[in-house]
Amino acid sequence: MGQLFVGTFVDTPCPGELRIRQDHLLVVDEKGYITHIAPIHDDSSQSILSGLSSSSPSSSSSSSSIPMELGKHSFLLPVFTDLHIHAAQYLFCGLGLDLPLIEWLERYAYKAEERVDGDPALAERVYGTLVKRLLQNGTGCVSFFGTIGVRSNLILAKKMQEAGLRGFVGKLSMDQSPRPTYGETSASASLDSLNEFLDSLEGYLAQYKPHEKVVEPIITPRYVPVCSDELLGRLKELGDKRGVRVQSHMCEGRDQMGLVYKQRGKRDQDIWNELGFLGPKTLQAHVTYLDDEMIPLIKDREVTIAHCPLSNAYLSEKQFPLREALDKSLNVGLGTDVAGGYTLSIQNQMRQAVIISRLREGARCENMDCSFAESANKGGKNLSVDWVESIYLATRGGKKGMGLGGCLEVGMEFDAQLIELADEGSPSGVGALDLFDLQTRGIDTEEEWKVNVERWWCNGDDRNRKGMWVQGRKVL
Ligand code: GUN
Ligand code: FE
Repeated sequence: MGQLFVGTFVDTPCPGELRIRQDHLLVVDEKGYITHIAPIHDDSSQSILSGLSSSSPSSSSSSSSIPMELGKHSFLLPVFTDLHIHAAQYLFCGLGLDLPLIEWLERYAYKAEERVDGDPALAERVYGTLVKRLLQNGTGCVSFFGTIGVRSNLILAKKMQEAGLRGFVGKLSMDQSPRPTYGETSASASLDSLNEFLDSLEGYLAQYKPHEKVVEPIITPRYVPVCSDELLGRLKELGDKRGVRVQSHMCEGRDQMGLVYKQRGKRDQDIWNELGFLGPKTLQAHVTYLDDEMIPLIKDREVTIAHCPLSNAYLSEKQFPLREALDKSLNVGLGTDVAGGYTLSIQNQMRQAVIISRLREGARCENMDCSFAESANKGGKNLSVDWVESIYLATRGGKKGMGLGGCLEVGMEFDAQLIELADEGSPSGVGALDLFDLQTRGIDTEEEWKVNVERWWCNGDDRNRKGMWVQGRKVL
């Protein structure tokens, strides 16, 4: 049965554009794709609505549906996408972030992943809770780093599929682990294990119709220091052969990049490039050291970057040049990098991305070799990013590089969240929002909507989220 929604729809088709469509009708077909979005009074919308009562054959998909009115102070927004998160690390989320990356990995991350792999009941608990929490936070699409164990990755995939959380599950590949009890013994053993995961996942998903499958595998060499050249080369071949996307970490921090250079005598980005990994099916986390030399490699090859601002603030020395990446039209989305970041909330990452960009801009101005009075006129490129651009990153930006939609447009998957700013009875604001002007002026014009969406962007939380759909299925 199709679904119809009437009300206000907000999305970001490109980085600087907040599109607000009031009094629109949106139709979703039985397979969970958007088939119509237009003003309610347009002929096209009216003919759909009149077809509801007359049940004409042309509107059979929606003939049994009753339109859902979104509410006077509510809007539909695409779900958030978390492009980079380590599922098993949710177990110790928040701990040890005073440590440098490599030490943190060895003291916390590998141990937690090993525990999850060794205890299926724990995997069930951690992954079940994680999936539920992500949905509560408005995240409807995820790219996961899992663990090396086949069984726990299958548990994760099942939890996602059952709950309706869309995403990619990356069974980790690492044949050069520094931890004797957590690693793969050779490139061949690693490949065998990955093939077993891919086959098992395919087998499990076979019970679902194509449009019902929301989970896909993604090949996941953890990062260069724990993978042999042989393993990396064979993973690339396997990805090409099976048509599977690839994700990893690239140019994250000084100690990591230094380790790569010490081991291989080459730079991280050169290794990925030489092995042929930099292409449209590759997602790289961080790339905080993105520079003018690297930009063409990422742009021309259509690599997608997961920007994880909170994690970078702890585990990287440099912050990602987001302004430059957006200005060069690179594919960028946001990631929490849990547990390198301590929050599951992509809304927090949006705020964090803006904050970091503003700190970069502040540092740029401070570093100008001129007086305070002169600096305003000195010009140069402002490095800050605004809240609308951050919504783009959290929705369309995150999905675009993964072959998905991320907007509310005909042909795209219907992955949306219902945000309530205020309820009908008392328009003073839901949750943490105190919307004084809403009580007196209402919310009629596009400008009024923009102001209230911005208020929500700053201070809204789970209490404003009243529903969520992934591929048309209600998941919250
Ligand atoms: N590099 C390799 N593994 C990891 C990880 O688990 N987290 C982060 N942030 N970086 C990594
Ligand atoms: Fe990470």
